[in-house]
Amino acid sequence: MKDSNYLKEMNARSLWHPMAHPADSLANPPTIVTGAKGVRITDVDGHEVVDGVGGLWNVNLGFSCQPIKDAIAAQLDRLPYYSIFRGTTNDAVIQLAEELRDFFEPDGLTRAFYTSGGSDSVETALRLARQYHKVRGEAARTKFLSLKKGYHGTHFGGASVNGNANFRTQYEPLLAGCHHIPAPYTYRNPFDETDPAKLAQKCLSALEDEIAFQGAGTIAAFIMEPTLGAGGVIPPHESFMPGVREICSKHGILLIADEVITAFGRTGSWTGSRHWGVQPDLMCTAKAITNGYFPFGAVMIAEHVAEVFESDESGRAAIGHGYTYSGHPVGAAAALACLTETLKLNVPQNAAARGKQLHQGLLKLQDKYEVIGDVRGGHGLMLALELVSDRATKAAIDKKTINTVQEVAYRSGAMVRVSGPNIILSPPLVLTEADAQVILDALDAGLAAATA
Ligand SMILES: Cc1ncc(COP(=O)(O)O)c(C=O)c1O
Repeated sequence: MKDSNYLKEMNARSLWHPMAHPADSLANPPTIVTGAKGVRITDVDGHEVVDGVGGLWNVNLGFSCQPIKDAIAAQLDRLPYYSIFRGTTNDAVIQLAEELRDFFEPDGLTRAFYTSGGSDSVETALRLARQYHKVRGEAARTKFLSLKKGYHGTHFGGASVNGNANFRTQYEPLLAGCHHIPAPYTYRNPFDETDPAKLAQKCLSALEDEIAFQGAGTIAAFIMEPTLGAGGVIPPHESFMPGVREICSKHGILLIADEVITAFGRTGSWTGSRHWGVQPDLMCTAKAITNGYFPFGAVMIAEHVAEVFESDESGRAAIGHGYTYSGHPVGAAAALACLTETLKLNVPQNAAARGKQLHQGLLKLQDKYEVIGDVRGGHGLMLALELVSDRATKAAIDKKTINTVQEVAYRSGAMVRVSGPNIILSPPLVLTEADAQVILDALDAGLAAATA
């Protein structure tokens, strides 16, 4: 690797960063991460911090999971690539599908369609949903419903069901026939409703209303994250997802659970759907499926959906979709090792305990700092602080203040993520109590500096 002077000199010069303004990356070059161990990352200057971001919601088992690294190396040696398009397959994907089937059995999901990441999984699920209805003879069901504030990746399909203008406006026009309903976001919502249970009911009524308006027979699927993540960590009331399930079933609409973040333990349950007691028809997974060590994903498919495809005799169920890296053997080997480790470590238990600790810590910080308008969490290791410049009016925070919180927190020992007005925490699920306290202390220091 080149020396640190070279890296700093060239930082952001010849590449564009995702989710960043190219000019901003040049003016404020990003932190250069050069190493990692356990739940800690080290930058080019040798500064080590607890990674409160967990890579990007994906490094659930930390950076030192040797069995996954060994599995990747061994697979690279034995069979570094082979396609699973019609006619060929590889041994790793066969075994993985059986293990995923066991893992997702409580969710009612029995088939896997492999992808190379979260956006690919969302695209796949949207396509399979439309195809399912066509195979069944309801070709008019093509529309998609989703939540405002939801995040579903950045392919055109995913961006079209996304609920944040940032990911949409510069890329419009998007896919026709995608409609959004209000999110169960108690801090800000069009109903001025602060009670989570009442708000859930109002959002469900809005869903019913939209279905009536569009016509149920035109809608293929409703897609949602069990807890909204990138949109600012919004855990809904416990009645919300079961309510969505009921409405979807009543109207013949497929429910797609986008569990790119929540599958494999992050909510304190093995899946976000299980957390709310819901069985979806399709589930998008990626990220923690390989602990972030290899780009890989899987769309899990419910038995009853699979039966429609598998019993088709018209030819319409032939899948005209897939990626060169669908079922990459190295990804599959990584996922197999990752699943074994994830189960062995029983990560939801620690995610729930550390999530509670962080949530209580953030609520204490809210008592101390006026700038914290809202604290969201309470369901595992996905939490957020929403900062405001005035608690009474909930007026937006300025960029400088929130960036100062992040910078000083980093200097004080924790990497946290800023997304709009939110500071988001999504640390590895193997975080210790002491590590969680480091994050809280670092945030305390950041907030103190930003509000001094
Ligand atoms: C819920 C959800 N869906 C989809 C995606 C897109 O995944 P990827 O960035 O791997 O394409 C993300 C990424 O954060 C996500 O959080």
